[in-house]
Amino acid sequence: MKMKRLGNTGLKISEISLGTMSFGRWIDEQSSLEILNIALENGINMIDTADLYGRGQDNGKFDQLGEAEVILGKALKGRRDDVIIATKVCNRMGSGINDAGLNRRHIMKSVEDSLQRLQTDYIDVYYAHRPDPDTPFEETIRAFDDLIRQGKVRYIACSNFQAWQVAKCHGISAQMGVERFEAVQPQYSLLVRDIEKELLPFCQSEQVGVIVYSPLARGLLSGKYKSATEFPSDSRAEAGEERLLDLLHQEKNLEKVHQLGRIADQLNVNLPQLALSWVLHNPIITSAIVGATKKEQLEDIIQSKEIILDKEILDQLDRITKG
Ligand SMILES: NC(=O)c1ccc[n+]([C@@H]2O[C@H](COP(=O)([O-])OP(=O)(O)OC[C@H]3O[C@@H](n4cnc5c(N)ncnc54)[C@H](OP(=O)(O)O)[C@@H]3O)[C@@H](O)[C@H]2O)c1
Repeated sequence: MKMKRLGNTGLKISEISLGTMSFGRWIDEQSSLEILNIALENGINMIDTADLYGRGQDNGKFDQLGEAEVILGKALKGRRDDVIIATKVCNRMGSGINDAGLNRRHIMKSVEDSLQRLQTDYIDVYYAHRPDPDTPFEETIRAFDDLIRQGKVRYIACSNFQAWQVAKCHGISAQMGVERFEAVQPQYSLLVRDIEKELLPFCQSEQVGVIVYSPLARGLLSGKYKSATEFPSDSRAEAGEERLLDLLHQEKNLEKVHQLGRIADQLNVNLPQLALSWVLHNPIITSAIVGATKKEQLEDIIQSKEIILDKEILDQLDRITKG
């Protein structure tokens, strides 16, 4: 497994990260463990989770949020130091007015809750999960910096931020003389390419790590979907994942997937492998976070790092997916 430096830090992470949004939500503890073990056996050291991942994301029950962190905490007992754990804060975790957001109070409570669920005393990378328009950036950055001083967090990062928001936060960090966001976590795949305009050039210029999520467009780039209304029974679309349904309903996406499948056939690889190798071939990308609900999916996708894409193929992929 190729290891890369995370942005301007000295931390080395695997170019494929394991996402755990499925843990406890669509798959049980045993299947989650199997997937985690395959990741670790294949040299993946970066494990991505979030405070909220769990069944509560779908049924609205707050006591069923955080199940992925609980599973990870149990599974990583005795091997905590072998992995880099990234988790996130911002989403609503309770019914109280301050049980959400990037305010100092919620951050300080959430970090303790995540540490407890993960059964660890430090988080390697702590993300602001998304911007919080109700909290000044200064307040969030100061709270995050305090967590580093307290030894609870090693590096801070942000997810789903626009380039201007990361740039503004970096300016604030420099002005205050405190830690800055060392990585971003946006969505990126052959079907979702908008970060190429602003965020990727910014990260390249400022040496910010780029850890992208949903490189298979939440499974749409598996090729398993032939229709925007009828889905395979064991798929996330059938389970009702809203953001996947949005992608499925976007005009032209199914046609693009069909054309991409033909290129994968030409290359003698399958579509998930082509989709992931395309993300990894971009040198600005530090790591791609893949998800799985079956261990065979992860075994299959790990082979993508071997595929070499030449200019002719890259041009063909651009013609299908750009614009
Ligand atoms: N920061 C954020 O806001 C944010 C948002 C979303 C995700 N994330 C992170 O990114 C991680 C990955 O996201 P994602 O799960 O959407 O990523 P993804 O890799 O785009 O999609 C994974 C899905 O693709 C399908 N799949 C994977 N490998 C396959 C294979 N070899 N053959 C056929 N189908 C395959 C499976 O769908 P089925 O299960 O339907 O079979 C699997 O659940 C999450 O776990 C989470 O850690 C972060």
